[in-house]
Amino acid sequence: MSENQSDNNGEPDKNGAVHADLNGAAQQFRFRTERLEVASLEYNSTCSFRIGDQKYSGIQVVDVSATGLGLKSPEPIDLPTGAKLENFFFQHNGRTIWSGEAFLVYPQQESMLRFGVKFQGAPLSLQEIRFNDKVVEKQIGRTIELQAEYEAILPADWRAKVVTFYNVLLDIREHLEEHERKDPTGRWREPENSWRLCSAVFDKIWPSVCKLNEDLDEQAAGFDARQVELGLLFAQRLINLEFQVCEFLHRAYSKPQGYAGDYRMMELSQTNILAGDTLFARFLHYYSQHTSLGQTIKARAGVAYEAAKETISLDRPVRIMSLACGPAVELCRLLADVEHFPHPVEILLVDQDEDALRSCVTELHRVVAQRKDNPPVGFHCLHFSLRQIIAPKKGGERKLVQEVLSNVDLIYSMGLFDYLLQPLARRTTSKLFDLLAPQGRLLIGNLCRVPDSTWMMEYGVAWQLVYRKEEQMMDLGSGIEEKLDSLQVLRDRTGNCLFTDARRGE
Ligand SMILES: C[S@@+](CC[C@H](N)C(=O)[O-])C[C@H]1O[C@@H](n2cnc3c(N)ncnc32)[C@H](O)[C@@H]1O
Repeated sequence: MSENQSDNNGEPDKNGAVHADLNGAAQQFRFRTERLEVASLEYNSTCSFRIGDQKYSGIQVVDVSATGLGLKSPEPIDLPTGAKLENFFFQHNGRTIWSGEAFLVYPQQESMLRFGVKFQGAPLSLQEIRFNDKVVEKQIGRTIELQAEYEAILPADWRAKVVTFYNVLLDIREHLEEHERKDPTGRWREPENSWRLCSAVFDKIWPSVCKLNEDLDEQAAGFDARQVELGLLFAQRLINLEFQVCEFLHRAYSKPQGYAGDYRMMELSQTNILAGDTLFARFLHYYSQHTSLGQTIKARAGVAYEAAKETISLDRPVRIMSLACGPAVELCRLLADVEHFPHPVEILLVDQDEDALRSCVTELHRVVAQRKDNPPVGFHCLHFSLRQIIAPKKGGERKLVQEVLSNVDLIYSMGLFDYLLQPLARRTTSKLFDLLAPQGRLLIGNLCRVPDSTWMMEYGVAWQLVYRKEEQMMDLGSGIEEKLDSLQVLRDRTGNCLFTDARRGE
């Protein structure tokens, strides 16, 4: 047998279909080119033409093909097939798409007002009609309307300040790109060099950019609902042209997990290594970390660190729970820092995001392994949500809450209550308080509104939080008075994160 032959009844090997076996249509044998139903488009189509001395206009177009139209007239037109339609204009939303001469291909039947025409000459592009309909008329048309609304509704000086902010970013990007070009050996890439370069730029711009953000925030505080809606569109559109290159800011805006403030953002806010392939991307990362609230994300972890350290120093085994733990950077630091663990420590990590738990526990294990003293620290990772803690379903959920998430010496949460409205936040506080062991401590962090950062978060990257003041933090404890030993509100070292600090009695 030769190489090209199979043992299939002596037939040669096939590389593709056998021509003789190919089929035509099973039923509809006449091929018709694509037809576009005008009803499926955003806007309407009409046409006008002349037959002899008679002018017809505003005739409705029902469907369109490359070579002709299906029309519907309000009244009968008595014409034979082949009649010439002169001065034929086909318009979509008032824009002429085709003009020339056409002729009647099928006339109206007795009771039907529909008829068909065929173009004489160049065919139409249906794709172009779709483009005109959707892109030109709808999208670009909306863009033009929107600019007029911005002008009419948003204060001119507010818009000017947004543009100033954008211009500053644009200039910085150009200068940093220039620096990259002048550094052919790429020394800027060294983490320490990137940090120094970015910090120099930040220090230079921050006093005026901080003021700009504060002014924008103050002015936006007086916006009505329509101004807020338009203001968000105006600012986000512009600012994100520059922000997209920064992983932190991009995540905040595009919300790959469906929400801003995911564990990866928390990792990025607390790392000393700036992320990004360009110096400008690294600058934006540095910028995000060094606005007031950027610094607070790092600083609030310090409060949880101290609380966990205090708990570990109790003269007995302890249990610590981090709710919405994210990367639990504070616990990683603590496990690296504490010199000696005289008693067992059980750490309960609770988060609704499996990736957060995976990343967090991997890092914690790495830190513990590096210590070489095999400390008596154990981890429970619970892929559990707040809802399951507040109202666990009968069975597995309830059992887990009763058996694992109870009798805890310290429960803390940061970056979760900032998304809860007051009634739910109060209810959650009560529920968590019930999970404490006697003399246990509940520590709940919540950011305050800080104009130099909050404007950019809301109007720059659509990151909306529930900012709280001291009264609201005290109010979180309003359902637990009877079981309290003490209730106070603490602040982190930046002063911009408040903590409801509730201690349980016996
Ligand atoms: C802003 S991060 C805070 C992480 C960490 N506490 C910190 O301060 O770095 C918010 C975390 O809350 C988690 N989270 C959000 N909604 C949750 C819910 N309903 N139940 C449990 N975790 C939630 C997210 O997955 C994310 O890891």
